[in-house]
Amino acid sequence: MANIAKIFLLVWLAAAQQSAGPIFEGKTTLLRPNNYREWIFVGSSRGLSYAANPPAQSQAPASGMGEMYHNVYITPDAYREFTRTGKFPEGTMLAMELLSADTKREPGLQGSYEKEFMGLEVSVKDSSRFTGGWAYFNFSDGRGASYKDKAEPFPASAGCVSCHKQNAETDNVFTQFYPVLRAAKPK
Ligand code: HEC
Repeated sequence: MANIAKIFLLVWLAAAQQSAGPIFEGKTTLLRPNNYREWIFVGSSRGLSYAANPPAQSQAPASGMGEMYHNVYITPDAYREFTRTGKFPEGTMLAMELLSADTKREPGLQGSYEKEFMGLEVSVKDSSRFTGGWAYFNFSDGRGASYKDKAEPFPASAGCVSCHKQNAETDNVFTQFYPVLRAAKPK
């Protein structure tokens, strides 16, 4: 009997992981969303930071690889709601994946490209769990693409919360850097 219950739980978890919203363990521990690369891609940047001394996670190792790329995705349900109302609904999640940058020096080849996955950060809007509405999570474990399965929110006093609150254009989200969201917002 216990085994059957376990199987149901696993099936439910697998289904829930594919669903649109965040999945918590307990009150505030977020399980890593596993399908974020299928969400809506809203923009990318390279080496972008507001900090005078940029946060460590956007810095490449001292190997001269250069600054990291950031790829940002939003959950499809939140995107659809945003196109209708210009607001991010409860349950909105954004994922920012960090990638190392590299260049090739073959004759005539210019510019840089994304090389390896380096980290994953996620924001969630859930006013029933977090004061101020938004919480910030880091799934990076310092070993490239092997991300942690779950993460604790940064405390409200952390830089994540204050920088996003102060500098982001729309409800803690940096829409000034996401042309896809700016185009989607109703006039
Ligand atoms: C000094 C300012 C600053 C701090 C501190 C900061 N961020 Fe951000 N964050 C940004 C900017 C600017 C962007 C715009 C997208 C980019 O970087 O390409 C961003 C984007 C994001 C996004 C994509 C969704 C969105 O809100 O736009 C996530 C997720 C994110 N940050 C997580 C974090 C986490 C987790 C922390 C704390 C460990 C953190 N940030 C700390 C400035 C900051």
